[in-house]
Amino acid sequence: MSGSAIRPTPPVTLVIFGATGDLTRRLLIPAIVNLARGGLVGDDLHILGLGIEPGGTDMLLERLDTFLATLDGIVEDDAWKRLRQRISYISGDFSGDAIYEDVGRYLDKSPTGNAAFYFAVPPQFFGSIVEKLAEHKLTVEKPGAFRRIAIEKPFGTDLASAKALNARILARVSETQVFRLDHFLGKETVQNIMTARFANMMIESLWNSNYIDHVQVSAAEIVDVGTRGKFFDATGALRDMVPNHLFQLLAMVAMEPPNSFSAEAIRNEKSKLLQALRIYTPEEAAAHSVRGVYTGGTLEGKAIPAYLETKDVSPDSTTETYVALKLYADTWRWAGVPFYIRTGKAMKARDTEIVVTFRPVPFAQFRETDVNHNMPPNRLIIQVQPDEGLSMEISIKAPGLSVDTVPVSLDFRYGDRFDIGKMTGYESLLYDLFIGDQTLFQRADGIEAGWAAVQPFLDLWASGGKPDPYAPGSPGPASADALIAKDGRRWHELGTSGEKKG
Ligand code: BG6
Repeated sequence: MSGSAIRPTPPVTLVIFGATGDLTRRLLIPAIVNLARGGLVGDDLHILGLGIEPGGTDMLLERLDTFLATLDGIVEDDAWKRLRQRISYISGDFSGDAIYEDVGRYLDKSPTGNAAFYFAVPPQFFGSIVEKLAEHKLTVEKPGAFRRIAIEKPFGTDLASAKALNARILARVSETQVFRLDHFLGKETVQNIMTARFANMMIESLWNSNYIDHVQVSAAEIVDVGTRGKFFDATGALRDMVPNHLFQLLAMVAMEPPNSFSAEAIRNEKSKLLQALRIYTPEEAAAHSVRGVYTGGTLEGKAIPAYLETKDVSPDSTTETYVALKLYADTWRWAGVPFYIRTGKAMKARDTEIVVTFRPVPFAQFRETDVNHNMPPNRLIIQVQPDEGLSMEISIKAPGLSVDTVPVSLDFRYGDRFDIGKMTGYESLLYDLFIGDQTLFQRADGIEAGWAAVQPFLDLWASGGKPDPYAPGSPGPASADALIAKDGRRWHELGTSGEKKG
């Protein structure tokens, strides 16, 4: 997310651990092809795929070709044809030494020695791969030759494990070499939050507890757990989505203005905000949270099994597929403003959005007149997906002789104004990894602050109780409505932003 003019990336070898996996073919390779199409990576980008699956470069290329053939127009694209010639594959055991020696030999032959090691592997390998790379001196940077590591989520499973993983990694490489990914930060609208706030006086000047009543951050999904039972049952909606994706959205919305557009200035402010999230006592955690689990039913016309009957899910599991939390950021700006966040599977709509509700006007002039004064509070809705955009809800006078105030929505959809093409969301993340811009990557202190804020909920739920049921295709459990209703507020209806009001 460079503040300066876009330039092609330097020569680099992208070394992918887990090259035969889903992430590589579905997201990484298509994103690199998109970058190549735009001239942002050149013929000096090489990819060295590593995997435990036996086979050579032809095996990997064949698999990539087969998958890419299912995507629109990539296999025939010149950019892919050229990139394909610069892909190699080495098979081996990530816990042995041979594969690291092979990687060393490969990098010794590369013109600059620049390398980015991408961990597209299950999290239990993260620490040991960094140690092996360091043992084989592959993480040593030399003047003019960078060595970076890119790590996918989940980064830890709680506060203690996240701290331990950070310590293990930072004992071998410096923070400037670590790029902890959160793919939400690759989404265009998420990056736009900073522009919306800091390039617009009329937004940022109202962005505080004097004018804002509350903020809602939602990431609702229609998909159920499906074939991901093993992963999901050990993880749950809270760990899967909150300390990472939802907190990244929250940090972008609520951080103080950074004093420059540098990665460190921005990450300082994000970390400060996450560190200000109130750490609840067990009683507060219970009062400010709801967990849910979907029952069996129909979803978009298809029958789906209850979560508890899903393959690889324990029948007496207490893992949540939905979570709603009420949080506070204890800062001068946000004193007393609740942040309601929620996420879940098998819900009514796919809808990731941030809804900022402003306070009511201070004085109701129309109260003793015949004027229809239907004046709901102003809202600013940042629609992250689908249909990325921004809406502002305001009250106006309906045309006619009488004065009727009606709420309307001013809507901006990215797709109406720009050709947003078919991006995977990984383009900007990979580009930034190659040019060394850490703005969109999480720093150790930010990760730990996120886990610290969710730890009371993890502890509470580990101590007993069960999630509340909700029907698939619904907006979540009734208890989540009650959580917000007791404050006299309600959730923004999922799947409705952008609709014309009034
Ligand atoms: C992943 C979670 O990190 O994000 C998934 O593990 C979730 O459970 C996904 O479905 C959501 O991402 P997106 O980009 O599809 O909203």
